[in-house]
Amino acid sequence: MLKTHTCGELSHDCVGQVVTLAGWVHRRRDHGGLTFVDLRDRWGLIQVVSDPEYAEAHETMSGLRAEYVIQVSGNVRGRPDGASNPDMVSGDIELVAQHVKILNVSKTPPFDINKVSKVEEGLRQKYRYLDLRRSNMLANLSLRHKTISFIRDHLSQSGFLEVETPMLFKTTPEGARDYLVPSRLHRGKFYALPQSPQQLKQLLMVAGIERYFQIARCFRDEDQRGDRQPEFTQLDMEMSFVEQEDVLQTIEILITELVANLTEMKFQQTPWPRFSSEEVLNRFGTDKPDLRFGVELQDVTELVVESELKIFSSAETVKGINAEGCGNYSRKQIDSLTDFVKQYGAGGLAWAVVGDDGNVSRSSFRKYVDENTMHALKKKMQAKPGDLLLLVASDVDVVHDSLAALRVKIGEKIGVYDTNLLACCWVIDFPLFNWNERENRWDPSHHLFTAPLTEDIGHLDTDPGRVRGSQYDMVCNGYEMAGGSIRIHDSALQQQIFDLIGLDKNVALERFGHMLEAFEYGTPPHGGIAVGIDRLVMLLAQEKNIREVIAFPKSQQATDLMVGAPSTADVDQLNELHISITDSTSSKIE
Ligand code: AMO
Repeated sequence: MLKTHTCGELSHDCVGQVVTLAGWVHRRRDHGGLTFVDLRDRWGLIQVVSDPEYAEAHETMSGLRAEYVIQVSGNVRGRPDGASNPDMVSGDIELVAQHVKILNVSKTPPFDINKVSKVEEGLRQKYRYLDLRRSNMLANLSLRHKTISFIRDHLSQSGFLEVETPMLFKTTPEGARDYLVPSRLHRGKFYALPQSPQQLKQLLMVAGIERYFQIARCFRDEDQRGDRQPEFTQLDMEMSFVEQEDVLQTIEILITELVANLTEMKFQQTPWPRFSSEEVLNRFGTDKPDLRFGVELQDVTELVVESELKIFSSAETVKGINAEGCGNYSRKQIDSLTDFVKQYGAGGLAWAVVGDDGNVSRSSFRKYVDENTMHALKKKMQAKPGDLLLLVASDVDVVHDSLAALRVKIGEKIGVYDTNLLACCWVIDFPLFNWNERENRWDPSHHLFTAPLTEDIGHLDTDPGRVRGSQYDMVCNGYEMAGGSIRIHDSALQQQIFDLIGLDKNVALERFGHMLEAFEYGTPPHGGIAVGIDRLVMLLAQEKNIREVIAFPKSQQATDLMVGAPSTADVDQLNELHISITDSTSSKIE
């Protein structure tokens, strides 16, 4: 080793020792003819000071620049009185440089490594290897590592077996587009990268593994968001001979212990509350509610349906939220909230401010509704003096989408909450199917292998919309963290579901024949779940984008700005893969 110690492990106990350190020049400053360098390695920082007595080292120190890689040997000593730095762990000691060797020089970095300052996202991604040198990014990578290690240990101790499944696979039905990999040996054929190991983990249950997990890479070609990457990681799990309750308990215990062991964060409520998907939609407008604040949606359709205002009387649904204490919002602020909900398809925002006397003092719709209606509205929305009532009238989906987003915007402003809080809940009892208006057919709301609740199986033939799935999502602070279900383990029932969604028999056989066949060889009842590792670590690190907890993430446009991927391929490579790029598609590929 080129070092005897790490920068992070030296303490006052080491005073008097001669040590050799190696790392990067974090910061350099000159003072009273001496050079001071904060030397950084993965484990910490320590101050190195030159001493004219060691002339050669003194000379080398004076020529150092930020991010040079150096090796320093010298004596550890206590810092003189008044020179301690309480911001550094090793702030009361320093190393007197007796020998300094420059192992490598560095160009001036495109941004400061020694400060957690705001740097343009594209620049950070292009120079990700420098971005990762920054202390907050290193802390995030370290937390990710600890999270995954904890999960592995915990599940191994609970009898789970970690099994790797292939990346080169066949299409998996998770609802996104596949990434395809052309086959060289099989002209015109493609592998699909797995959207999740869903089918394989079910086949592992047929294989008798009973308790499986994997830290699994998944690939989905879909629009990017702050909590979505084309390539991401799941804690994927499957268990045999279990019921829904067993899966929920397994995850709740795992996450609770993980949070207690690795963070200072606290749960808002334990055990985690459970809601039906219908209840959360009605109360929060979304199936991934942020429960750290109230600001619930109130249905006021009945109250305003008779009003003279066409947008109220003609709307399918009118719902509102009470932005408590926001009655002082200016017209300009309210207009910007109106623009905000328009992004979600709402035609506008109806609003009313409650004055000090309890009466509406300003409103966009006061003149269209009578006193009694206004009174009933205030009562229903529990309005107090100083509150701002915000209503959206439209079809139910638009009302929910726009108010769910508005609720978060308002909630983050007025719902004073502790950033250390994790408000986790389970959302259960999802409808098994959603009606696809455009295609005129039922679509599975999770995936094709989700079992209906036993008590709802009778409705499969008569009223598929009423059938609930044995399906569950774990939601935390407004993010969907995990999703799973109890699976169908009976081929006749699986066929019935395929028929119901109009999946042609031959297509079903071509795509899932292996599953149907496997199910004929003694398949145990089974179920599972997958937790988004990136989202989990993002919350634990208190970040707002999963890019912050992924070493080499993709950009918003699904590109890698550091290496320039995706990129064009050599003609020879394409020929081997039997692929020719047509003009119209090649421009898109660039
Ligand atoms: P699902 O599709 O709900 O279920 O995914 C499970 C969890 O994976 C995370 N996730 C993502 N994270 C980052 N970027 C993405 N593009 C992305 N997509 C999903 C979320 C989500 O809750 N096979 C089923 C699980 C099962 O039924 O057992 C599945 O993949 O945190």
